[in-house]
Amino acid sequence: MKSFYITTAIDYANGSPHLGHAYEKVLTDVIARTNRLLGSQVKFVTGLDEHGQKVQQGAQSEGIEPLERCNRIAEEFQSMLLQLGISNDDYIRTTQERHKKVVSLLLQDLYDRGEIYQAEYQGFYSTRAEQFLQEKDKVDGKWPEIFGEVTEITEKNYFFKLGKYQGWLSKHLNETTGFIEPAHRQNQVLEFLKEPLNDLCISRPKERLSWGIPLPFDSEYVTYVWFDALVNYVSAAGFGDESFEKFWPADLHVIGKDILAPPHAVYWPIMLKACNLALPKQILAHGWWTVSGSKMSKSSGETVDPLGLAEKYGADAFRYFVMREMTVGNDAEFSAERFESRYRADLGNDLGNLVSRLLHMTAAYEQGIVPTVDLDEEPEKKIKEHWNSTKDFVLDCFSSFQFSQGLDKAFAFIRGINKYADERTPWKLAKSDEPEDRKALRTCLGTMIESLRLANTMLAPVMPSVHEKINDRLGLSPSVSWNDDLFWDHRLAEKKLGEKTILFPREV
Ligand code: MSP
Repeated sequence: MKSFYITTAIDYANGSPHLGHAYEKVLTDVIARTNRLLGSQVKFVTGLDEHGQKVQQGAQSEGIEPLERCNRIAEEFQSMLLQLGISNDDYIRTTQERHKKVVSLLLQDLYDRGEIYQAEYQGFYSTRAEQFLQEKDKVDGKWPEIFGEVTEITEKNYFFKLGKYQGWLSKHLNETTGFIEPAHRQNQVLEFLKEPLNDLCISRPKERLSWGIPLPFDSEYVTYVWFDALVNYVSAAGFGDESFEKFWPADLHVIGKDILAPPHAVYWPIMLKACNLALPKQILAHGWWTVSGSKMSKSSGETVDPLGLAEKYGADAFRYFVMREMTVGNDAEFSAERFESRYRADLGNDLGNLVSRLLHMTAAYEQGIVPTVDLDEEPEKKIKEHWNSTKDFVLDCFSSFQFSQGLDKAFAFIRGINKYADERTPWKLAKSDEPEDRKALRTCLGTMIESLRLANTMLAPVMPSVHEKINDRLGLSPSVSWNDDLFWDHRLAEKKLGEKTILFPREV
């Protein structure tokens, strides 16, 4: 069985989860579920990035130990995963032994091979961004807001020889189309690499930052953020164990555009190369959710609570909204009105009404038994063709991360089923005793039920619990294989359907 290792960024343990964090988990979950349905053995990992100054300061201001604060935030993030139906197989925390061990092993190995050296460093440091800044980071001669307070400091630190791999990385990016998605981001990284690449400062003196993983070769220092955080991807894959071979290299890292270059597109490939480890096959950089035009973040103060929405409308409505509304790679503005309108129109009117109407008609006209289809006339031919083109298009979209377009097409098919019913008018046919009308009625219901089964199979990765509910009414367990379940074969003929149900209540 083909394996598929997929990861999200690990969230900073310095605040509560917001829509941005939730979106990334849903997006990754949809890709993970799609790959499972297509037959891969998926390993889906997400987690928490727990070291660093902000976490240390946050704990101090609460008068508690950093780990205590991290434990609480880890619970909050994990409970969000549960509530959003995220199917991760593992949750990595950078304070876990399994991770700290791997960070130490890799650092020691790089140090022994001369890839890490000590030097004096003088520079402008941003506490908020936890990074040294360069003159070019200034905007109009000033440090931009996002860096918070910036101070000039001199200290001895350890450096990783990033610069010497610059040529190698440019070559890799030039030769490997599709390494970074969307493609224009790969070009941006190549542009970035036209400037000389400095070596990477990978340490902080303990007196300034104690909340970190100690350097194995100098206990006066801890590991600086990226050499700790990025390594989670290999520690979660079980670096040093047998299972590592099975899942590494990762098939896909899903991250936001803010941490693409340099961390994921420059530091990470070079770190792996220097450690003689294979590079991930692909990196997907999604855009930002904005509120009133600015990136939603803890520091901007403008956040949307994903759990409030999921509680009110249901987790699947939330999942559908974010996947339908955001074109992967672009930014999207959050609006409560858009949410409400997608909920009412797409989910309530198109899908919800179809399900309740169909269950009701089958119960009323056919005692809840799925009729066999005897006719294959123009309307049936049309809807079958519509399904075939929908299936191919949606599969293509889902494999190229175009979920919004794919869902648009899937819902056009759902509306197509409603149109088919309007054409055949089963409610009129049911009033007639003519054998031809009976045949048309049975054909119509059978065709609609088969169409709904197929549409619902296609929605499984995006709305897993709605999928399960609809399949339950159809007398089916949730789909485990798209290779088996996406064919028009009237497998439900003569089967008994369940009771009518309301999937998306009007009053929420
Ligand atoms: N801890 C680092 C990542 C380390 S990965 C080895 C980090 N954490 S974060 O909590 O700030 O962000 C976690 C993820 O959420 C990132 O991929 C980030 O892009 C994403 N988002 C945070 N705010 C976002 C939006 N407003 N919109 C969409 N996603 C954004 O970065």
